[in-house]
Amino acid sequence: MSASVLVGTQWGDEGKGKITDLISGDFDVVCRYGGGANAGHTVVANGHKLALHQIPSGIVHEDALSVIGNGCIVDPTVILEEIDTLKAQGLSCEGLRISGNAHIVMPYHRDLDGAHEKNLGKNLIGTTKRGIGPCYMDKMNRTGLRMQDMLDDDTFREKLAAALAYQNPILEKVYGLPTYTVEQICEEFLPYAERLRPYIIESSKLLNEELAAGKNILFEGAQATMLDIDHGTYPFVTSSNPTAGGALTGSGVGPTRIDRVVGVAKAYTTRVGEGPFPTELDDEVGEALRAKGGEFGVTTGRPRRTGWFDAVVMRYATRINGLTDICLTKLDVLSGYDTIPVCVAYEVDGVRTEEMPLDQAGFEAAVPVYEELPGWSEDISQCRSFEELPQAAQDYIMRLEELSRCRIQSIGVGPGREATIVRYPLM
Ligand code: GDP
Ligand code: IMO
Ligand code: MG
Repeated sequence: MSASVLVGTQWGDEGKGKITDLISGDFDVVCRYGGGANAGHTVVANGHKLALHQIPSGIVHEDALSVIGNGCIVDPTVILEEIDTLKAQGLSCEGLRISGNAHIVMPYHRDLDGAHEKNLGKNLIGTTKRGIGPCYMDKMNRTGLRMQDMLDDDTFREKLAAALAYQNPILEKVYGLPTYTVEQICEEFLPYAERLRPYIIESSKLLNEELAAGKNILFEGAQATMLDIDHGTYPFVTSSNPTAGGALTGSGVGPTRIDRVVGVAKAYTTRVGEGPFPTELDDEVGEALRAKGGEFGVTTGRPRRTGWFDAVVMRYATRINGLTDICLTKLDVLSGYDTIPVCVAYEVDGVRTEEMPLDQAGFEAAVPVYEELPGWSEDISQCRSFEELPQAAQDYIMRLEELSRCRIQSIGVGPGREATIVRYPLM
């Protein structure tokens, strides 16, 4: 029996989908514990490229169970489309399970997300407009609908009527948006309920039974540490807890069951949406890095902001998540630089700090202190062992490891499952 948590350590899109796919062969269950269709996880395997938003990346391994935990929110339109796409590619979704306690993303959540962003004007968050904030708001406000409400049409209708009595005045009076009727939503959603019903279960019971039976569970994080509602760059964050602690509340598995916490980190940094980003390269160097790394959002297609590796953020992620290992991705993208700057500390109001500043203003004012590491020119995409890497690339890894205060378990040198240098086994 073993349970591992996989988390994003930066602002998302670190390559969690690739790593989940790479290691999920060692796990009997892969469980998502937070977020919704705002995630975009890419899996490149057996010549296929898959983009998953709701379903755990473990679905590619058909003998594993893929669980959507109670901490997730589910958009029926997205998940059904995903199921259809997977089936069309010959992948069965027989191992899919959805927690009855996961909340449902309703059409009005999307409307409210878009309207709220519009109202924020230049202070917008830059959300994915997938209804994430409003759906989690409803969860916390105790006015949400859950997947279990789809098990019975009358229950769904009744709860929806109560939800609309609350939501319609907000839609109409606050945002001047069209309202919804129960019938209108039922017409669309009851057929969804029909299709999703077979997947809905009490997932914490299943997960704990699997552990009791000696099975291995991987908790696949979505989003990332710096997007965490508590620990990220608030308010420029998502509305859930992507950090390792979220795997517990988001699944109903206790902390004593977790053996390791694996952080996925890009060899440089990217961010989509608004908010502070100290090492951002808002110039042609950043533009070139974006082009080289193919840094465009999987969910929204937006160009990702790019910058150098930030060791202050990485150390923070090591601490907040209690990381045991790091999977470093996209090292291949860094081939071809004479030197590669790495941010080792910040200067805030002229004072050097190696830690995350206490307040938002401090982080917004943080000026990166760079160390220039020697680059390499070789194409490293075919390297499969640490020793095959050019010396400068090896040194880059060793320095990042030292700065991160956590060992680097694997190094990604391409998008495919096989394009990975494994330094030691995880299990
Ligand atoms: P996630 O949200 O963390 O799962 O990451 P995304 O899938 O949104 O973005 C990561 C992108 O990088 C995807 O296009 C992956 O196929 C790609 N990728 C992952 N690891 C590597 C790597 O080591 N090298 C290269 N070149 N691409 C990678
Ligand atoms: P994966 O799992 C990158 C960002 C959005 C926005 C902020 C809030 O693929 O790494 P939201 O729609 O969640 O309310 O948006 O969070 N964001 C992500 N950025 N990768 C993600 O997921 C993200 N999920 C949300 O861009 O800045
Ligand atoms: Mg992504």
